[in-house]
Amino acid sequence: MTSPQNTLVVATILLLFLSFSKLSLTTFVSIDCGSYESTIDTNNITWIGDDAYIQFGESHQIPSAPSIFNTLRAFPYGNESCYSIEVENGEKVLTRATFFYGNYDNKSSPPIFDLHFDGNFWASVNTSMASSEYNLDYEAIYATKGNTTNICVTQKMPNHIPFITSLEVRSLNSTMYSQLEPNHSLILLGRYAFGADKSIRYPDDAYDRIWKTVSGDGLISRVKSDALNINISTVVDNPPQAAMNNAVTTPDKDHQILYHLFIPHKEVPLYINTYFSEVTKDAAGARSIEIHVDSNPVYGPIAPPFGSVEEVYIKKSLSQDTSLAFVARPDSTLPPILNAIEVYQIQPLAIANATDT
Ligand SMILES: *[C@@H]1O[C@H](CO)[C@@H](O)[C@H](O)[C@H]1NC(C)=O
Ligand SMILES: *[C@@H]1O[C@H](CO)[C@@H](O)[C@H](O)[C@H]1NC(C)=O
Ligand SMILES: *[C@@H]1O[C@H](CO)[C@@H](O)[C@H](O)[C@H]1NC(C)=O
Ligand SMILES: *[C@@H]1O[C@H](CO)[C@@H](O)[C@H](O)[C@H]1NC(C)=O
Ligand SMILES: *[C@@H]1O[C@H](CO)[C@@H](O)[C@H](O)[C@H]1NC(C)=O
Ligand SMILES: *[C@@H]1O[C@H](CO)[C@@H](O)[C@H](O)[C@H]1NC(C)=O
Ligand SMILES: *[C@@H]1O[C@H](CO)[C@@H](O)[C@H](O)[C@H]1NC(C)=O
Ligand SMILES: *[C@@H]1O[C@H](CO)[C@@H](O)[C@H](O)[C@H]1NC(C)=O
Ligand SMILES: *[C@@H]1O[C@H](CO)[C@@H](O)[C@H](O)[C@H]1NC(C)=O
Repeated sequence: MTSPQNTLVVATILLLFLSFSKLSLTTFVSIDCGSYESTIDTNNITWIGDDAYIQFGESHQIPSAPSIFNTLRAFPYGNESCYSIEVENGEKVLTRATFFYGNYDNKSSPPIFDLHFDGNFWASVNTSMASSEYNLDYEAIYATKGNTTNICVTQKMPNHIPFITSLEVRSLNSTMYSQLEPNHSLILLGRYAFGADKSIRYPDDAYDRIWKTVSGDGLISRVKSDALNINISTVVDNPPQAAMNNAVTTPDKDHQILYHLFIPHKEVPLYINTYFSEVTKDAAGARSIEIHVDSNPVYGPIAPPFGSVEEVYIKKSLSQDTSLAFVARPDSTLPPILNAIEVYQIQPLAIANATDT
């Protein structure tokens, strides 16, 4: 009964079905708010307009700004305005919202308003902080509570009209950020690739985390890894290889790498990931590092492996006055190195379900 032709047709449909169901497991949505067009940027990220996501608000243009930042959607007529994005129920996602005022309304009055996800307060957005740069961005990591995630901007003060420039949602592997409890979210405070020439994101980072560059004081120097390949699969959070290729170090083992936490004065619960990858083959075993919080050792010894990565997390309540230092242990013959860091504030999720309008 079954001719070979039929078998082929069945097989083709099955393959198509498989490839679609695989795609639907991976959320990678990039919305260029206020735009009606689709664009592909230099990172090969496809940005789509927002007309399929939202039926109200006003689209505005800032012709002088670069693509993505040259359109926005403002919400002058409602208190809360939400984007609802399809996700897998219960998946761990990274959501990023950006804001660039650019004097779109000719009022020279950058507004302040609130940002929420799934009914949780996320941030108070002060758009005057982005006057000189385009990257006023907010990032949160959390598990979804339904088949959509809702991102909302809310007016808090008279004449402060909320708006949004772009919105991105990316799936993470459920094994990542394993110390995050389901009733909490992570709010990004900083993610840096030390010694990198430029910021790193997709496609170098499959999850499109943005690893920014940072310059240290005169004593901190950049070092490049001699390893041709760095196996990032040795650690759960899959840092991009591009962020492991470089590190910072100090002139000698008596100098430590001091990391300044850009966090509030009062203590906040933090989730810090640190990444170490040895830069020279001969140094493997000769370098031994300890992490100190306020001069007290909290983790060590760390012997960075050559050609792969060691990751250390710290979950602790810290304040701006806390010092976080990477120190050579007495038995180390080499100064400390540090390749990358991620700093998140741990925030409890609202108990009630999201009530979005
Ligand atoms: C851009 O993405 C497309 C499909 O997502 C892929 O086929 C292509 O190879 C990518 N190009 C580059 C330069 O990465
Ligand atoms: C905005 O919120 C205020 C206070 O909650 C309420 O009085 C007002 O009706 C709301 N406006 C709109 C347009 O929803
Ligand atoms: C702002 O001013 C520019 C130049 O005068 C004008 O083209 C634009 O329509 C104005 N925008 C608004 C929202 O008033
Ligand atoms: C908003 O940011 C500006 C510029 O940094 C600052 O002067 C102002 O105090 C901030 N406003 C609030 C309410 O934080
Ligand atoms: C999402 O969930 C709601 C409520 O459980 C359901 O009504 C809706 O059909 C679902 N949507 C999709 C696209 O699965
Ligand atoms: C998630 O991470 C685990 C452990 O690294 C790996 O085995 C698995 O293939 C990953 N899944 C996806 C979808 O990347
Ligand atoms: C990378 O590390 C993983 C986990 O240790 C290991 O299973 C894998 O074989 C390594 N890959 C290479 C290319 O060495
Ligand atoms: C979150 O869950 C943990 C157990 O998984 C519990 O100890 C903690 O009290 C919960 N926190 C909140 C804010 O609900
Ligand atoms: C939250 O939503 C879930 C399913 O959508 C429901 O079972 C639960 O009762 C809700 N909880 C509250 C506090 O409304």
